[in-house]
Amino acid sequence: MFTRTSCLSSCQYRIGYGRTGFELAYGPTLPEQIFLNQRKSAVILGAQWGDEGKGKIVDVLSEKFSVVARYAGGHNAGHTVIIAGKKFVLQLIPCGVLRPECKGVIGNGVVLDPMAFLSEVKKLKDAGLKIDGQLFVSNRAQVILPYHRMIELAAENAPGRTKIGTTSRGIGPAYEDKMHRSGLRVIDLLNPALLRTHINNACYEKNTIAQALFGTEPLDPKAIYEEYARAAEQVAPFVTDTAVLLNEAIRAGEKVMFEGAQGALLDIDHGTYPFVTSSSSTSGGAVTGTGVGPTSIGTVIGVTKAYVTRVGEGPFPTEIHDDSATLLRARGQEYGAVTGRPRRCGWLDLPLLRYSNMINGTEWLVVTKMDVLDECAEIPVCTGYKINGKLTDLIPADMRGFEAIQPVYTKLKCWNASTEGITEFDKLPKMAQDYLHFLERESGARIGMVSTGPDRDQTMTLPEFAEALEA
Ligand code: IMP
Repeated sequence: MFTRTSCLSSCQYRIGYGRTGFELAYGPTLPEQIFLNQRKSAVILGAQWGDEGKGKIVDVLSEKFSVVARYAGGHNAGHTVIIAGKKFVLQLIPCGVLRPECKGVIGNGVVLDPMAFLSEVKKLKDAGLKIDGQLFVSNRAQVILPYHRMIELAAENAPGRTKIGTTSRGIGPAYEDKMHRSGLRVIDLLNPALLRTHINNACYEKNTIAQALFGTEPLDPKAIYEEYARAAEQVAPFVTDTAVLLNEAIRAGEKVMFEGAQGALLDIDHGTYPFVTSSSSTSGGAVTGTGVGPTSIGTVIGVTKAYVTRVGEGPFPTEIHDDSATLLRARGQEYGAVTGRPRRCGWLDLPLLRYSNMINGTEWLVVTKMDVLDECAEIPVCTGYKINGKLTDLIPADMRGFEAIQPVYTKLKCWNASTEGITEFDKLPKMAQDYLHFLERESGARIGMVSTGPDRDQTMTLPEFAEALEA
């Protein structure tokens, strides 16, 4: 509620608009508050095309944070976390809830499939985790309904349409409805009369379109209403105004982590359009997707693999087309956590990483899957692009530009020794250290952590980063 600071700052009171109207409260003045916030909160996001291993990193870092908030995407994301050998795949629920002392928030920028949400809640409860009172869903988040999936499947397979290779979860059509101002929000899901009318009207419209354009069988609005009204009752206890919850947590001095989904290069504005997802996966999305102001965000942490992968269609300048891709896929278990699709594999692309760091304001990098490179014959790293014979660091905005790219590689030697599970920088083989130094120098962001295996414990935290987190 801190919207204005009194000029009488010696009194240290602030006037703000609270839930009950204007309130007077004592505590830090706004500049002091911003200073506190800047040290405490962080956005953590994928720096590439998703699947960088954010889940594990969020899980490890969540020890330092009291709240983890998802700000974009839906159950198209798949975060795999392994704790003491036990595997958890989370799609909607922030990884923070795996720690009992950490709250999880699904922000307004997320598109929520109630069925996927409830099945994930059940899975976690069955695994013995206490979720009630720890997990919160924004009343302003948009709801995914069965006709979103129907439209997506039909459109993806329609002749003449650009195939994106989506996850078929209804994500794009749900965001379309949001921007079209015809979506259903979680607060509306809880209102049975409104829900019934909305489903009737939407089904009429979507069935007509899908049948006319794609010959799809129509959906039954009555059956959908009954199923979703039942689900709404189970979702209701989790629903709240999460913008208020997060701002109050920040005001109380709690550390908040904003957890990105997908990766920066899949962002609707800054990614490789149209081969992107439909939300703002970059750091800016953390602000609009949670209702927390930019002055409340202290740092941005980008997670990058030591190489690159991509699922679905779209440009990929450093994609590997020989046996090295098979090796990386096998060693890195590069299969989609949501769809099981084999991921396309490529060498580290520094122009794209620099671009990602620029648009996100990335301060720290976390390098994951370092150990996957242990057995490569050599490690080519793309340091620049040649387009029409000219060296450039600019990232093309269109597909034709991407097609014209000739990556310029620097070939680094492989260390050919196991880095698996190493948690101290000095214990890494010298050439692995050189690789990380090279990556840091060329990417323009500091390396804060390195992941050398899928388990929580197989993580190296560099001292400067640890200090920054404690600040
Ligand atoms: P959608 O998000 O399902 O609409 O899919 C759009 C594009 O984003 C497709 O290329 C998907 O493969 C990709 N995508 C969506 N979610 C993820 C993710 O969590 N990891 C990697 N790629 C993703």
